[in-house]
Amino acid sequence: MKQRIIAGNWKMNTRRSEAMLLIESIRHGVDARQIPSSIDVVICPPFLWLENAIEACMGNPALHRSSRSTVRCGAQDCHHEASGAYTGDVSAQMLADIGCTDVIVGHSERRLYHGETNALIARKILAAHAAGLRPIVCVGESAHEREHGATRAVITQQLDELVTGAGSAALNSCIVAYEPLWAIGTGVAASPEQAQDVHALIREQLTAVGAASTPLLYGGSVTAQNAPSLFACPDIDGALIGGASLSADSFLTIIDAAVSAWAE
Ligand code: 13P
Repeated sequence: MKQRIIAGNWKMNTRRSEAMLLIESIRHGVDARQIPSSIDVVICPPFLWLENAIEACMGNPALHRSSRSTVRCGAQDCHHEASGAYTGDVSAQMLADIGCTDVIVGHSERRLYHGETNALIARKILAAHAAGLRPIVCVGESAHEREHGATRAVITQQLDELVTGAGSAALNSCIVAYEPLWAIGTGVAASPEQAQDVHALIREQLTAVGAASTPLLYGGSVTAQNAPSLFACPDIDGALIGGASLSADSFLTIIDAAVSAWAE
């Protein structure tokens, strides 16, 4: 069964009360729908709201109490070491301890504002796996790189360095998200043709290292309006959604588009 994923990355947004309302609305919306088990819904709130989100969506792991809901909760980042003197950081194991299931690693905002390299991101993939989390690994080119015809070279290099650092087997148990930097938060999504073109390249490269079934998500200005045409592309297995995941209505409409595209 091919796994599809609709994931929301809330980034550094929401006050506590807004977050709780949003989690409840998404959970109710998901519970009210018939979502096949081949489609995962994941929300990635800020660290501080994660434990509440997990309790609302998945039950309380400490009390071995589970909810009926199928909304998974992920973090937006984790540290590459298991523990130690890393002030302000959060380990993958800590996330697993509170019941997190997924973690985004290598988002372009982490690469840009925190200087994260492919070598470091590879270590985060390994740390996530060691803690039993599923990494959502982001790759993507800048506007400048695309304008200079370097898209394929940039994506190839990112994947090569991730495979070198983490090993090809690790990529087999990841989700890869293609997020072109020029499409993030701009309102200008990649066209389905542009996205499919890069997804086919990523698929080809992952297939070459034995990771043909790794789900590939598109991210960058995904909306309720453009989701259906993106989901019609053969190598797009879901979406990583920023802005539109901050509204329960638009996030749930994107989930509906996924169900129409992929319900078997
Ligand atoms: P937007 O959907 O707001 O463009 O953000 C995309 C993104 O960065 C998700 O990780």
